[in-house]
Formats: sequence, C-alpha cells, structure tokens
Amino acid sequence: MKERLMEEKYCIICYEPIGSSEPVEIPTPSYEPDKLVHQDCFLTKLEELASDATREKMLRYILAYEKNNDINYLRDKSKSGIAGWEAQTIGLPSQKLRPFLNAGLLGITFNSNSSTDYALAGKDLVRDFLEGNVITSRTPVDQELELPDDLFACIISYDDVKDEIKFTLREGKRSHYLMIGPPATAKSLFLMEVGRLSGAYPATGSTVTGPGLTDALLTYQPKILILDELDKVRMDATAVLLSVMESGDVLQTKYRKHGGQKISLSVFAAANRDRGLAPELLSRFDTKLYFHPYSFDDFIGICRGYLSRYENVPGDIAEYIGKQTWHQLDKDVRTARGVARRLRDNTTSDVDRVVAFLCRYRKEFSERA
Ligand SMILES: Nc1ncnc2c1ncn2[C@@H]1O[C@H](COP(=O)(O)OP(=O)(O)OP(=O)(O)O)[C@@H](O)[C@H]1O
Ligand SMILES: [Mg+2]
Repeated sequence: MKERLMEEKYCIICYEPIGSSEPVEIPTPSYEPDKLVHQDCFLTKLEELASDATREKMLRYILAYEKNNDINYLRDKSKSGIAGWEAQTIGLPSQKLRPFLNAGLLGITFNSNSSTDYALAGKDLVRDFLEGNVITSRTPVDQELELPDDLFACIISYDDVKDEIKFTLREGKRSHYLMIGPPATAKSLFLMEVGRLSGAYPATGSTVTGPGLTDALLTYQPKILILDELDKVRMDATAVLLSVMESGDVLQTKYRKHGGQKISLSVFAAANRDRGLAPELLSRFDTKLYFHPYSFDDFIGICRGYLSRYENVPGDIAEYIGKQTWHQLDKDVRTARGVARRLRDNTTSDVDRVVAFLCRYRKEFSERA
C-alpha cells in the first residue's frame, strides 16, 4: 500500500508527472483508480470548450444544478452514497455530455447497466473560471535554472556567445535572443543546447500557429521558448509572440482577461535573414546576434573538431577534408560532413576521390552543360 502511495501520478491530459502541483481530480467510480490533471491543462480544456457559447451555458447550468442539489463529489466520494447526477435527471441528453467527458471536465461517479452518474471535475475552478477569476500557475516562474556542465560543449568556437547566454540563463534574466546568419553556422545547435534545459519548450509544427502557440504557452508555462526558423512563423503566431515577449501576457480572451495569465519567458530564435520579419517582432529581440560566414581558419578548426568528434575521422584527415571542401566545393560544414561520410578509408587520397566525385557534379558544371 505504501508503495502505491509513492507511485508517480500523471496528468491524463498532457501525460507529464503531476509533480508537486495541486491537481484537479476527475470523478471516477470508486472501483477505478484516481484520475488527475494539472490545473493548467484543465483550464486549457475548459477554455476550449467554453469558447462555444452553448457549451458555456451548459457548464453554468450543471454548476448551478450541483449547487442547488448539494452535489459535491470531493466531499462525498468516500461515502457509499452516489455523489453525482443522471443525465435524465438533470435534463441533458447523455450525448451532449460527451465533449465534457472527453475533455476531463466531467467524470463518471457510478456506472451500471441501467444508469450512469456524472459529476463536475474541479467545480471551484470551473466557477472561478466562468466568473473570470482564474489565477493559477503550474510552474513557478522565477526559479533559477540549473545549467548542465557540458552545455554548448558540442559547439566549437563562439566562446563569447556561450558565455553571454550562460550568464542570462544562470541569473534568470529575461532576454530574447535572435541568431541570424547563413546556413550551417551553428544557430540550430545553440537552440538545441538551450532546449536541453528544464523549462525549455521547442515550438515546432502546430505550436507555431497562433492557437497552437497559445495553447502550448498556457499548458506548459515554459521559461524558455525555442523557435527555430523564425522567418517561417505564421502571422497569427507573431501576434501571440509580440504580446508574450513584451509583457508576458499570453492571451487576453473573454475568460482569462482578469486572470493575469502572465508568464516570464525568454525566447531563443534563429533565422537565416531578418528580411521579412515584422519590425516590431525584430525589435522585441533585445539580443540580435548576426552570425557571419566562417573565416577560413574558423572553418578548418570547426571541421577538425566536429568531424573528429562526431564522424570518427582522425584529426588530420578532418582538417584535410575542411581544406578541400573550402577550396574546391563550398564553405559549408554540412558539405564537409558529407565528404567524411563518403570515405571508404581514412586517407587523403580517399578524400581526394570523394571531392573529385562531388566536383564533377558541382552546380556550375551542370549549368554549363
Ligand atoms: N561551430 C560549430 N561547432 C560544431 N558544429 C558545427 C558548428 N558550425 C556548424 N556545425 C555543424 O554544422 C551542421 C549545421 O549546423 P546547424 O544546424 O546548427 O546550422 P544552422 O546555422 O542552424 O543552419 P541553417 O541556417 O541551415 O538552419 C551541424 O551538423 C553542426 O554540428
Ligand atoms: Mg538551423
């Protein structure tokens, strides 16, 4: 029994551990295990559903019904009596309750062949939410970040950038970084490293749309938002960014407007160019770092370090690949990596073979043909 109590509990909406936050309990029949959700996950679902006016009215109706009939799941769940209501008694068809059940706003307290009883989850929260008085935060926002010792160790050079970012993170300062530069200059590598920190949230796919980003910010309350390829972020997501980056406000909706849904967030973003970015978005990045193409010496040093560490090529051959790539192909670390991956043995003559092969099919040749 003791072991069972010690078990980690998970949120059935986001599937992350409940941790030390106070969860919302979803009503369940006494023979089923408890179901819990984070308050913020619950609120996000609540907001989604209540954005439909009819469903919002249904929620108010259920809330009033439970109040008038003194139905209180949390108080009565341990008693043998039934702590819920039947769809028929309350006067709502059971198929209309389905969306509330699916979202975890409603639970089943009793189920048999002849009847099903329901009760609201998080009744107080639903009431506060509908009255516009919600103030919750699952993640404490101002805790200091612990930085792993090997943060940025995989990045060669850029010591000053590493140092500045570490200072920002370690001190818990709020600062928005934008790295702009040509391909293969380690921008994504920086973002990936920052993304290892707890409290970092990488926005990809649907979370770079306006509603997706809002949802992710409210649900996970990240301290750091990672946005690679900022130039591809949609306009509606830009609007969300403008607000959260400046004031920390995630959303001013009908329901949360009094709730102070402020989060303390730093954005780390990258793009190949700043052209096309809204000037007001660009302005919100207080630390804009324009990465320049690598110099010859940088390029050789990076090829040597990167290819020997991650592609298993001896240092002298890695350096040779760097030189041949720079002089005969292009000045891209990815091209050098491609050469390393084609090697059949670690010799300069095999590097020459691969480089000669790639040269034969270089862009200029095919264009001239
Ligand atoms: N300074 C560096 N240290 C270590 N690896 C590097 C460095 N620069 C480039 N690389 C390597 O080059 C490849 C491309 O790097 P990365 O993806 O970070 O580039 P990027 O700047 O994001 O490019 P893009 O604009 O095309 O997205 C990676 O495999 C990375 O390991
Ligand atoms: Mg990149």
